[in-house]
Amino acid sequence: MSKTITKIAVLTSGGDAPGMNAAIRSVVRTCAFHNIECVGIYRGYQGMIEGDFKEMGPRSVNNIINKGGTILKSARSKEFQTQEGREKAYQHLKNANIKALIVIGGDGSFTGAEIFSKEYDFPVMGIPGTIDNDIFGTSHTLGYDTALNTVIECIDKIRDTASSHNRLFLVEVMGRDAGHIALNAGIGAGAEEILIPEENLGLERLLESLQKSKASGKSSSIVVVAEGDNTGKNVFELKEYIEKHLPEYDTRVSVLGHMQRGGSPSCFDRVLASRLGVKAVESLLEGKSNFMAGIDKDEIVLVPLQQAIKGHYPINTELLRVSDIMST
Ligand code: F6P
Repeated sequence: MSKTITKIAVLTSGGDAPGMNAAIRSVVRTCAFHNIECVGIYRGYQGMIEGDFKEMGPRSVNNIINKGGTILKSARSKEFQTQEGREKAYQHLKNANIKALIVIGGDGSFTGAEIFSKEYDFPVMGIPGTIDNDIFGTSHTLGYDTALNTVIECIDKIRDTASSHNRLFLVEVMGRDAGHIALNAGIGAGAEEILIPEENLGLERLLESLQKSKASGKSSSIVVVAEGDNTGKNVFELKEYIEKHLPEYDTRVSVLGHMQRGGSPSCFDRVLASRLGVKAVESLLEGKSNFMAGIDKDEIVLVPLQQAIKGHYPINTELLRVSDIMST
């Protein structure tokens, strides 16, 4: 184990996700296990630029494993995109005698970590924390499993009222420009149609499918729409389009929005966060840098940050086929 890494800082950055607190807890406890000091940085890179630091011992992370959000807060920092901003951040890390940094966030946060690490030859590790599950090299990002369960709970509730009023509901879910939440939660919630950016089958096909559903005797339907879907219409314009072409449908819209980002993390996310935190700290102590700790076929792996940043986790085409068959 490296003797030079005597103090590690951890921050959360980008959109928050359930499981981030469990990851913070794991990083802090793993540092304590190895007698390494740990510092929490508030508000992501902006807090690093302002020196908004807090020493964190093992007791400082009591009772947070089950809490959504992040006790270190999160932010998006324009100033960190400037060399002057990164220089200020570096000086604060140096003055605090911090020797390495763990960034819990998404691809945007990892990009900042990669640039900073190269500029200052500063050891960094990434932990994938975003509900979008859109990071290459890991089958799961922290928050994704919890978000899926939040979404299916919401759609189950919507289905109650849809079937009571024989309505069609368009439900918009998050994912920025990836359709993982829409596809998996759509199948899990029994949606009749799922629209994702990775596969645009066109509006005509949507109308045909809805007509088929109606003809087969379905009195209500759920269509899950990924926010990044590229039909060229937002979910409200889709409603108008369907009402115009299928006036027999009584259509409503429900945008789930930021409730998908909250809630107590699932057991899967808590365990994943605990595993990734250990991997990130111990990899730094082994002298490694510029990797993301991820999971692949239930094995914890290291993925070069540059790869994690560049790629997207591909949509599972077998799931697309399951979705088609289920809407029979
Ligand atoms: O990246 C996570 C995410 O929730 C996306 O799914 C969503 O598009 C975006 O963040 C929303 O960003 P903000 O919280 O800044 O509105």
